[in-house]
Amino acid sequence: MIARALLPDLPAYNALEELAKQLASASLQGLFEADPQRAETFTASAAGLHLDYSKQLLTRGARAALLQLAEQAGVQQGIADLFDGVRVNNTEGRPALHTLLRASSAGGQEDRFREVVTARSRMQTMAERLHRGEHTGYSGTTITDVVNIGIGGSDLGPRLVTQALKPFHGRVRCHYVSNVDPADLQDTLATLNPAATAFIICSKSFRTEETLANGLAARDWMLHAGATTTELDRHFLAVTTNLQAARDFGIPEANCLPMWDWVGGRYSVWSAVGLSCAIAVGWERFSEFLAGAEAMDQHFRHSEPGENLPLLMSLLEIWYCNFFGAGNHVVLPYDHSLQRLPDFLQQLTMESNGKRVSNSGELLHYTTAPVLWGSAGTMGQHSFHQLLHQGTLLCPVDFILPLTTHTSEQQQHRILVANCLAQSRTLMVGRSLEQARQALLRRGLDDEAAATLASHLVMPGNRPSSVITMASLNPGTLGALLALYEHRTYCSGLLWGINSFDQWGVELGKEISTDILGRLTDGIGADDTMDAATEHLIERWRDATR
Ligand code: F6P
Repeated sequence: MIARALLPDLPAYNALEELAKQLASASLQGLFEADPQRAETFTASAAGLHLDYSKQLLTRGARAALLQLAEQAGVQQGIADLFDGVRVNNTEGRPALHTLLRASSAGGQEDRFREVVTARSRMQTMAERLHRGEHTGYSGTTITDVVNIGIGGSDLGPRLVTQALKPFHGRVRCHYVSNVDPADLQDTLATLNPAATAFIICSKSFRTEETLANGLAARDWMLHAGATTTELDRHFLAVTTNLQAARDFGIPEANCLPMWDWVGGRYSVWSAVGLSCAIAVGWERFSEFLAGAEAMDQHFRHSEPGENLPLLMSLLEIWYCNFFGAGNHVVLPYDHSLQRLPDFLQQLTMESNGKRVSNSGELLHYTTAPVLWGSAGTMGQHSFHQLLHQGTLLCPVDFILPLTTHTSEQQQHRILVANCLAQSRTLMVGRSLEQARQALLRRGLDDEAAATLASHLVMPGNRPSSVITMASLNPGTLGALLALYEHRTYCSGLLWGINSFDQWGVELGKEISTDILGRLTDGIGADDTMDAATEHLIERWRDATR
């Protein structure tokens, strides 16, 4: 990987700073008046998704300057490197070939693609047997419930996809357990019949403490219910790169599906990590999910930068983060089945780009990944939207809106759509002091009361948002949506000059936790330089559990 100038040293950077200053005080409605084509020209479409970014604090000039920035940052080369299997994860010396997992041809990665195809075919066989109710447990009962035990990338992706594709579910119910808090597994198991339940132990490393603890507890539950050790083979599957550890756990190789070190956990739902999704919706639907993502990959790889959805969305992220000081980004899916999307995107964007040094280890003096947050609309409207409209933080928003519903409740869906469009418009238009005063007068307040209260009703407006629509949320558009955010994340990493595919920042906490666990369990810790605050808290725990 060739070292390149960092973001502030790119030639377009200074001009963008100037443009940002101008646009910070511009009126979005004024921009629409000045450019009658704006509602069409600030849009782009691909793979069944339509991005409307006309309500962003952008002009054609600012967009052109951002595209220049991308060119100067070598984004096009970075995109080619991703697909060509270059070791873009330079700190671990690996490529990041999640795109190969949904590819329909090898694209120069023949050996790896062969492995993917073989794994896909084994996954299909397993998924179909379970989906069709052909897999029976230790007592001959058909498996009706599958519990995926995993955490992070081995949980958030499959959990989201399964929930989002609920209208396509077959007879098998899929459940997700990730928290090491025993309540998570216990609550899930409380409703299940061991004889009809199968577990997928999903862990790229097969070393993750939470997953192994939950896996062992699930095993005990099954043995306690009367299954013999040999019969456990009918109930436990694994997805991992670490076959030996899965075997040591007691899962035979025939029940293990592979992962690869060239796929990051948070980019892995397309692999056998998505097995639970394929069981829930069947192979045909799962294939459509992969195809939707592949269509977005093709678009990302081949479209013009000015039409490239992931790149445009990444440039907006850079724009607000680095030129407007917005340290956060809000994602609001107006579809209840996408309620887990913000959780998934938190890992995707914040584990990928929450970095403080460049690819070559240089300390960065600019903001990288913003805090991503959000929830399914309309719930947020009755909690945090107050801050979006009147708070002091700049919170750029992505609204995500499937235009049709799978339910028969058309009027209720119209209410949902109206609320989504209204929120995006309200963020833009706001309400002036005079408009607020008039509104109060209309409510029957006298002049003095209206003048006193009016400033509380003022909404500054000019708050940026995009609206991503799709005809319907289905396996294809869902695949495209997730791939869109994956590639947006990668582009932002390229622009920030960081490695989006490692996560060294999660390790120290795990080590310290192991040490503290030693103290809690038998009073011995490896690190005898524990700080006084932690010692004090350990003492409090001892007092409470004596
Ligand atoms: O601790 C972070 C992390 O390594 C994530 O990157 C990963 O998705 C998660 O843990 C789970 O890891 P595994 O799939 O190896 O259990």
